[in-house]
Amino acid sequence: MSDLKSSVQSQFDRVAANYRTSTVHAQGTEFGEMVRMAALRGDERVLDAGCGAGHTAMHFAPYVAQVVAMDFTPSMLGQVAQLAAEKGFANIETQLGDVEHLPFDDDHFDLIVSRYSAHHWPHPQQAVTEFRRVLKPGGQVLLADVVGFDDPTCDTFLNAVELLRDPSHVRDFTPSEWIAFFQKEGFAAEIAYEWRLFIDFPSWVERMATPPLHVDAIRSLLHGASSEIRAAMKIEGDDFWFRCAVVKSVIRDA
Ligand SMILES: C[S@@+](CC[C@H](N)C(=O)[O-])C[C@H]1O[C@@H](n2cnc3c(N)ncnc32)[C@H](O)[C@@H]1O
Repeated sequence: MSDLKSSVQSQFDRVAANYRTSTVHAQGTEFGEMVRMAALRGDERVLDAGCGAGHTAMHFAPYVAQVVAMDFTPSMLGQVAQLAAEKGFANIETQLGDVEHLPFDDDHFDLIVSRYSAHHWPHPQQAVTEFRRVLKPGGQVLLADVVGFDDPTCDTFLNAVELLRDPSHVRDFTPSEWIAFFQKEGFAAEIAYEWRLFIDFPSWVERMATPPLHVDAIRSLLHGASSEIRAAMKIEGDDFWFRCAVVKSVIRDA
């Protein structure tokens, strides 16, 4: 495993329980939108890729036959099991695995969902290739994440702030980058939903146990940001807003 992936695992291993209790992760208008746009029949087998504490799996479990909640940080899977037991869901299984090397047979899932994980994937194209392999014909992916900016100044600023907060951060990919990754694998891809996520600075750095030196550096960047960046990220004191999107991708007919 690469140093970067080990860094993601050790980063999340230390703070797994924070992600079960985080309201940012437990709540969001995107859950209802994702369930609606999936147009579920009820017999689907669903993969939650990079499930963290399993909040996305919990939102799909009432409407499908089975959800496999997969993450490569072992302690996250314990959080999923605890949450599933608390909520009484018997149709959620946990699986240790890497999105870039999925531990499943070809043509296995009807739907893949993923939320707030993809900015940690060093090779997103490889993950999308794996999604294509394990999906049944006509299958779809709903990928939700923080997204970057087409404007290079804002994009560099956003990713610098993210990296200082979490050294395992790879990139908030832009909507057009995601669409290109999916189209290359034969998906019809579109941005199906967009929202803004308010970032309460103290809880954001506390959740990731960001070292004080980095917290100070992020504050310094935020306070010195240009008016262009302040407007794009809606910076208010230490707080700001992320842009987020659901990329909906459906396998095109062969
Ligand atoms: C912010 S948390 C996930 C949040 C969760 N999906 C939710 O909606 O609440 C990001 C998760 O992605 C996982 N992750 C990052 N890279 C991964 C990879 N290559 N394969 C599997 N899981 C990965 C991390 O272990 C972490 O648990």
